[in-house]
Amino acid sequence: MTDDLPAAERGKRAAAARALEFVEDGMKLGLGTGSTAAWFVDLLGQRMRAEGLRVTGVPSSSRTRARAEGLGIPLATLDEAGWLDLTIDGADEFDADLNLIKGGGGALLREKIVATACDRMVVITDPSKEVARLGAYPLPVEVVRFGASATMRLIAALLEHHDVDGRDVTRRPGGDGPYISDEGNTIVDLALGRIGDPARLNAALNAIPGVVETGLFCGIAAAVVVGEPDGTARVIGQI
Ligand code: A5P
Repeated sequence: MTDDLPAAERGKRAAAARALEFVEDGMKLGLGTGSTAAWFVDLLGQRMRAEGLRVTGVPSSSRTRARAEGLGIPLATLDEAGWLDLTIDGADEFDADLNLIKGGGGALLREKIVATACDRMVVITDPSKEVARLGAYPLPVEVVRFGASATMRLIAALLEHHDVDGRDVTRRPGGDGPYISDEGNTIVDLALGRIGDPARLNAALNAIPGVVETGLFCGIAAAVVVGEPDGTARVIGQI
């Protein structure tokens, strides 16, 4: 019974339902990863069955692919789709400028590729993700496995020159050994506390050879939909 859901889940569901209103027949959709994006995929599947809505989804992870396949949503690879009309995804944090931290679920690389290969990326969240400044949530960074320890040292040294409150760099554990992403890389989490300049930090981290991508999404999201437990949702930005 979904009415028994915890408040945060009801907020995520409300955000997903509001974002579903932006979906039009024939669209090519980027499908995000995580518990909020899962609500969107579920509601999309329901609407397709109920209304005969036709869309093509491009999943940002193997988890989302499996979920969408189970619901009978037609899927394509990003190469097959070419370009997307709309991407709907969750976030771990967002600020007033619509900068995001993503990657808590480990899918940040494919998520960023999908989010930047579309006309509009819309983020769906519950209110707990809204922050005055990014950084309380540890920043995920996807790193090539070869020489990962050396890359972590370079990241730690780089952080000395950035406006952050913490500098701990840890490798994310997986089920059996380090976490491995869908693209075969590992992930390190940076406990920064506060990120003074997200765009500058993103560019600097991405200049380290072993870094594949960071979970900082700056200037990518067009809007954030914040769902409340009472089922209402507010939209920040332009859809
Ligand atoms: C997945 O890698 C992440 O970027 C998720 O989008 C993010 O962690 C939000 O997840 P939840 O919707 O589960 O909070």
